[in-house]
Amino acid sequence: MASSSVNLEEIPSESLMNELLRRMKCAPKPEKHLILIGPPGSGKGTQSPIIKDEHCLCHLATGDMLRAAVSAKTPLGIKAKESMDKGELVSDDLVVGIIDEAMKKPSCKKGFILDGFPRTVAQAQKLDEMLERQGVKIGKVLDFAIDDAVLEERISGRWIHPASGRSYHTKFAPPRVPGVDDVTGEPLIQRKDDTAAVLKSRLESFHRQTQPVINYYSKKGIVATLHAEKPLSDVTDEVRKVLS
Ligand code: AP5
Repeated sequence: MASSSVNLEEIPSESLMNELLRRMKCAPKPEKHLILIGPPGSGKGTQSPIIKDEHCLCHLATGDMLRAAVSAKTPLGIKAKESMDKGELVSDDLVVGIIDEAMKKPSCKKGFILDGFPRTVAQAQKLDEMLERQGVKIGKVLDFAIDDAVLEERISGRWIHPASGRSYHTKFAPPRVPGVDDVTGEPLIQRKDDTAAVLKSRLESFHRQTQPVINYYSKKGIVATLHAEKPLSDVTDEVRKVLS
């Protein structure tokens, strides 16, 4: 039988030390279960890595997972591609399945950030059922409130590093070298759905299907509304205040 154990001698000392420091920092952190809701370009994917590092959570972004499935041409990706290219939502069953699976990862031990899920009231109800089985409750829903008019400039200037999901902007958050990821040096790409025409239909889906999800959680008294049109670091400060 093949052994799945890792030979620690082969791991560089610096990586071992960094992992040890990360575990020491994370051990006393309380569990957190968060949802980030907002229209396309409102900054969910930009703030998530900061929240993830500060609170030792896993970052579960259904958009990133679906794009990975599309590029790997898995059966799920083939089903999702047509809706995504048009800026429509993929079916509730597809996304609920991937989230249910992703939450079981060891990196979610201290809790999770759901970015882009739930996007319909049906998804929110399914999530409640899933969490009830695990004995977990959503602590906060961060509502990235922003005027639609700001979003086209954000979306058209966005460049992403597909492997990590890191997001840049030619004007608001430029990489150190144009077109290149700061951490890995790999090339950045623009998303196929980041066009003015597809944005229009993504915004329409947001207002029609996702806005009611904010009302669903408002009734539970757990929504914190952010001023997502502010500069990036101001939004980070608001998030920190809400989560402190
Ligand atoms: P998804 O990938 O989730 O896209 P989205 O919700 O449209 O969100 P975005 O990733 O476009 O925006 P963001 O808020 O993360 O913005 P970012 O931080 O990058 O979904 C894609 C598709 O997948 C959907 O259309 C659907 O088809 C499908 N899908 C996904 N989940 C689904 C679900 N649950 N159910 C059904 N279908 C689903 O910021 C944008 C830009 O602005 C960046 O360049 C950034 O640098 C810049 N920026 C960020 N914050 C600021 C700031 N404060 N000031 C200035 N610039 C800023």
